[in-house]
Amino acid sequence: MNKIVIRRPGGFDSLLLEPQPDPEPRAGEVVVATRAIGVNYADCIARMGLYKSANEFAGWPLTPGFEFAGEVAAVGEGVSELSVGDRVIGVTRFGAYSERVVVEPAQLLPLPASIAFEQAGAFQVAYLTAWYGLFVLGAAKAGSTVLVYSAAGGVGSAVCQLAKSEGARVLGVVGSAHKLEHALAQGAERVLVQEPKKLAAQAREFSPRGFDVVLDANGATTLRTSFELLAPMGRLIVYGFSSMISHGGKPNFLQLLWRYLCTPRFNPLEMVDRNVAVFAFNLSYLFDELTLYRETMTELLRRVESGAIRPLDVAAYPLAEAGRAHQALQSGQTRGKLVLVNER
Ligand SMILES: NC(=O)c1ccc[n+]([C@@H]2O[C@H](COP(=O)([O-])OP(=O)(O)OC[C@H]3O[C@@H](n4cnc5c(N)ncnc54)[C@H](OP(=O)(O)O)[C@@H]3O)[C@@H](O)[C@H]2O)c1
Repeated sequence: MNKIVIRRPGGFDSLLLEPQPDPEPRAGEVVVATRAIGVNYADCIARMGLYKSANEFAGWPLTPGFEFAGEVAAVGEGVSELSVGDRVIGVTRFGAYSERVVVEPAQLLPLPASIAFEQAGAFQVAYLTAWYGLFVLGAAKAGSTVLVYSAAGGVGSAVCQLAKSEGARVLGVVGSAHKLEHALAQGAERVLVQEPKKLAAQAREFSPRGFDVVLDANGATTLRTSFELLAPMGRLIVYGFSSMISHGGKPNFLQLLWRYLCTPRFNPLEMVDRNVAVFAFNLSYLFDELTLYRETMTELLRRVESGAIRPLDVAAYPLAEAGRAHQALQSGQTRGKLVLVNER
């Protein structure tokens, strides 16, 4: 088999496809032949050596990747719930950029026949992030007003779809005009092309009392405005800091330091007076919560089958071209999700 290996933190050309021996499952393990692997923004940060949980849980050399869809290729002793050939969808804490992954059965769910491998490969991280931010922390419900940035991207599209399916009203923000239609098609009621100086006023036109939930993965560039835009009882959900990272393959440490220093620190006294809350999370540190993962995924797949939500649009790249996929994602111009595919 082949897998992507990053020998040391680097740019787009540091993602190298290397041959490796086929893994054998030990007792209680399952080997999955991956057909599609999700590309997430965190993979790019991990490639640069800036993703704390990658350094902590995987180390170097690093094979990135959190999510995949494929077929069971082998099962170890004691695994009775899965058989060779089963279509599955699953998660792993790093290591998914590979033709074969070895996981435990709890990390896998059956993949419904109605979902193609390509779309399944890029489904989980975006939808689990959106679900956790929107419903678990954000407590969004019918009638809630929701503001989400990068509304045409992976997580942003999933937020639009889930919020709409729940009867919440979404104002999406996108970085450029070619993303407007895509975000509207995901269920945003209105979409703005981001203009930092106009954002607050335009958002207040949509919801004069402010927003019940604001989902922000930009960091310093928008966090203060996001906080100001909370309605009473509103919740700001912080789940990324994209604006710290440059569009190039290597980090710009000056930009990183500057944006770090500009990241707002919120005052609890003000939060008490305004009745607002700030939440933050990183799913890679929730990886052991496999019961929560399985319950949420079961509900998400049920919603796909009922037609309430749909898998995200994907652009596919061969596994060997993972560097090109990273370059596209970091350009900030993509819509929907990117997947790496293994042709059979
Ligand atoms: N905390 C968690 O557990 C968790 C889980 C998944 C994702 N995330 C975070 O959620 C965000 C979205 O992730 P995703 O994988 O779904 O990606 P994505 O939104 O599909 O793609 C990235 C988008 O972010 C925006 N962006 C802002 N600054 C950028 C920069 N410096 N370089 C490139 N893009 C930039 C661009 O959209 P616009 O120009 O339209 O804004 C771009 O299209 C990321 O910050 C990621 O780290 C967090």
